[in-house]
Amino acid sequence: MIERIYVALDFPNKEQAEALLNKLPKGIGVKIGLELFLKEGLDFVKKIRDCGYNVFLDLKFHDIPRTVAAAVSQVADSCNMLNVHAAGGKEMLEAAKEATLKVNKPPKLIGVTLLTSISEANWQSIGGSGNIEEAVAKRAFLCQEAGLDGVVTSTLEVEAIKKRCGKDFLTVVPGVRPKGASAGDQRRIATPKEAIEKGSDFLVIGRPITKALDPAKALEDILEEIKDNE
Ligand code: C5P
Repeated sequence: MIERIYVALDFPNKEQAEALLNKLPKGIGVKIGLELFLKEGLDFVKKIRDCGYNVFLDLKFHDIPRTVAAAVSQVADSCNMLNVHAAGGKEMLEAAKEATLKVNKPPKLIGVTLLTSISEANWQSIGGSGNIEEAVAKRAFLCQEAGLDGVVTSTLEVEAIKKRCGKDFLTVVPGVRPKGASAGDQRRIATPKEAIEKGSDFLVIGRPITKALDPAKALEDILEEIKDNE
């Protein structure tokens, strides 16, 4: 089960990231986002990968197709999973996928449908029409048509996505909060158990582990909560 969890290394530098990793069991996946990537760069990503961690590089590329394909080419052989914004459109998604296939062990390419911090009101204010679930399902389908391996999405949309795209289409789910944990800036949240029961393939968990007084115990509790659903 531990291989289905990616801990979000949302830290400003490698010292803090490594201090956390030293407290966690091997086998857990790590998600490296913009904050750490911009400070430590690709060499750090490679180092983590060479230590045996599965690396999800969360840089959420979103640009014209050629630029995104070029960016994907720079990182594709250094991670196991990376992502692009579905809002970039089909041509951009296809170009990104094609770029991943040029390396020996292509990373899984995951589309970001809609940020989990976007509420229904935020969605309307950025010009979105219809409800969030429809928009997410539409974008997930677009990602599948473009050949992507799955999507990042909230637990609340996992069932609809699996229904529309099939069970093999991966769902990577942030916004996971064990009971009693603070939601922080996340809006569409679910407990680890709910996320797994709905069919999520991978859980991305940051603060409930990284800010815990005892990160190893926080992870252990999460694993305990979801172990019956293996
Ligand atoms: O601390 P928390 O558990 O909220 O961390 C969630 C992580 O997942 C953060 O690194 C955030 O950037 C990322 N993420 C997200 N929503 C998305 C895509 C990524 O929260 N749609």
